[in-house]
Formats: sequence, C-alpha cells, structure tokens
Amino acid sequence: MTTQELASSQENMSDTTPTTAPKADLDWPNLGFGLHKADFSIRHTWKDGSWDLGVLSPDENIPINIAATCLHYGQACFEGLKAFETKSGDVVVFRIEQNAKRMINSCEKILMEPVPEEMFIDSVFRVINANRRFVPPYGTGACLYIRPLVIGSAPQVGVKPAGEYVFLVLVTPVGPYFKTGFKPVDLIVVEDIDRAAPLGVGDAKVGGNYAAGMRATLRAKEQGFTEVLYLDAREKKFIDESGPANFFAITKDNQYITPASSSILASITNKSLMILARDMGLEAKRRPIGVDEIFDFAEAGCCGTAAVITPIGSITYRDRKVTYCPDGKSGPISAKLYDRLRAIQVGDEPDVHDWVRVVPE
Ligand SMILES: Cc1ncc(COP(=O)(O)O)c(C=O)c1O
Repeated sequence: MTTQELASSQENMSDTTPTTAPKADLDWPNLGFGLHKADFSIRHTWKDGSWDLGVLSPDENIPINIAATCLHYGQACFEGLKAFETKSGDVVVFRIEQNAKRMINSCEKILMEPVPEEMFIDSVFRVINANRRFVPPYGTGACLYIRPLVIGSAPQVGVKPAGEYVFLVLVTPVGPYFKTGFKPVDLIVVEDIDRAAPLGVGDAKVGGNYAAGMRATLRAKEQGFTEVLYLDAREKKFIDESGPANFFAITKDNQYITPASSSILASITNKSLMILARDMGLEAKRRPIGVDEIFDFAEAGCCGTAAVITPIGSITYRDRKVTYCPDGKSGPISAKLYDRLRAIQVGDEPDVHDWVRVVPE
C-alpha cells in the first residue's frame, strides 16, 4: 500500500457505522475475557507484491483454501492490544507502534510478508472507528480488545511460505483476563512440557506457541492452579514466563526483576512497567532468574496486555509452595505499578512517556 493509497483509505474511514451510534447494550462491568460479536473486522490481502487497501466487513468468516499454509504448517501470527475510553470521551490506544513492530518481527520469523507499521496503525484505527459502540464506557473497567492477525493463505502442499497473506483485525469488548481480576493467582512450575525452544520462535507471537502450551495450562487448571510458569527449555534452571504473560518479581531490596530469555515474548506491558518502576525510584533489571530465587521474593506478578498486572499469590515448584500474598491481596509495589499503568492507559494520569494515542475519528 502506498502512502497515497493509505491517505485515501483514511478518507474512506467514515463509510461505516456513525461513530455517534449509542453504545451496545452489554453488561460492561461484568464482562469476562470472552468473544462478543462486534460490527466489523477489516481484512487486507497481500498478493502479487503488495497489500491491498483492505475492506471492512460485517462477516465473521473468511473464505480460505483447504491447503492454506496457516492451516497445515502454522504460518500465522497475531497481536493483542487494547483501546480505552477516557473521561473526556476520547478513545485511546496504548503503545500501538510497539505492537506493529512486534508483528513485523513475528512475520519475519516465519517468513510471512510483514505489515508496514503505518498500515497496521491505520487498519486498527479503522476497525475501532467502525466499532465505537463496542468501546466500553469509561469507568467500567472493561476495554476493547484488538486482535490483529496475519495468516499464510495460499495453498501449498510442500513446506514453504504461502506467498499470499491475509492481514485482518477483529475487536471484542472484554473484562479482565483472569476471572479474579486484580486478585492473586496460583501458578505451578512445569518441567515436563516446554512452550518454546531457546533458538525457536518463543519470542514471536505465533499461533503454534500457544497450541504447544495448551496441554500444560489445561493440566494445571485441572490440578487447581490458575496458570503455569515455564522454565528455560535447555536447563530447567531459569524462569521463562507464564502461559499468557511475562513474569516479574520484586526483590526484598526493592528491585523490579524480570527474566532475560531468548524464548519469551517481549511484553510491551513489561517494558512499560520497568520504566514506571524506575520512575518510582526502583532499580529495574532484566536478567536470568533462577527458579530457586522464588523462595526469596517479596512480591511476584504476571504482566501483559490481557493480564495487566496479576499478582501471584503462590508458586508451586516440585513439592514446595511459596506464598506471596498472605492476606489475599497484592503486595504494595505491584499495586502501585498497576494503578499507575491503568491510570496512564485510560488517560487519568499525564502521559509523560508518550505512550497513548487518541484514535482520530
Ligand atoms: C506468551 C505471552 N507472553 C507475554 C505477553 C504479554 O505481552 P504484552 O505485554 O505485549 O501484551 C503475552 C501477551 O499478552 C503473551 O501471549
């Protein structure tokens, strides 16, 4: 897509639902992290060397060849970000250019045509505008979850890149990822299942990583835990991340620490929390974290777009269990980080780091 074409697609942004449509009739404060049908998604095709302008469609289905590479060989990657309504009624997104860049990295890792950053942002804005009535009202704690996706769509029976790709963006209003919201969750360290290999694609947001982790998560849930904590696949000595989120801990001498690992997703939330922790006067470090260190932390948490900050109440490792929130509440530093991050994301606090963008109507 050329810059001129992009400009003309922006002019066509008003061709759908009026942005003044009344809000959808949903129980906003009690939304879970589920799929609610919105009005439109957008889909673009990459064919013969370029992306098309994209169309907004009310159809939730896409026609797809039964031999498409995404279906057989997992040539698919996605992103996840959120839009919030502010007190003044604007709709804002958080660090969207970071999601665009990460999606370029994911596409490159599995040999798909990357979506240019400007096109990614434009398409997300078009979809938000077409679905404004699904942006949860300010103060309800809910938000509009945005899910961009790239798939290899052309048929191949040999294992090779599709050569044709579909980029689509769907949205759904959501509440918190973990049912407990900002309440502590219980994790179990998993040693007999790996999510990703050190030199594999664990740092890309590709569908296969999530398929690989499903049996670990399901088993943990059956055992009464909320989620798993993965260790490094090579030595099983260091913490990697949780199923859907990065891991961080607050040490007893008030450092924010988070794992350095080649097989975890570079969480945008985590990067932001490191900056906020430094703003609060804490040292923030990314370093290998030995699994034995869990017994010494003052606080621990999961972080991500969906999880925001979810405090960890306990970690079970082999036959030992360490607990962090004896009174059932988050530790003070995690709570402060959560409040600051949320306040910036919904526009209640000044955006000193230039993280928030208003979606132009
Ligand atoms: C495996 C994994 N790790 C970490 C994260 C957190 O990344 P982000 O903060 O960019 O959402 C996610 C997505 O939410 C994830 O799926």
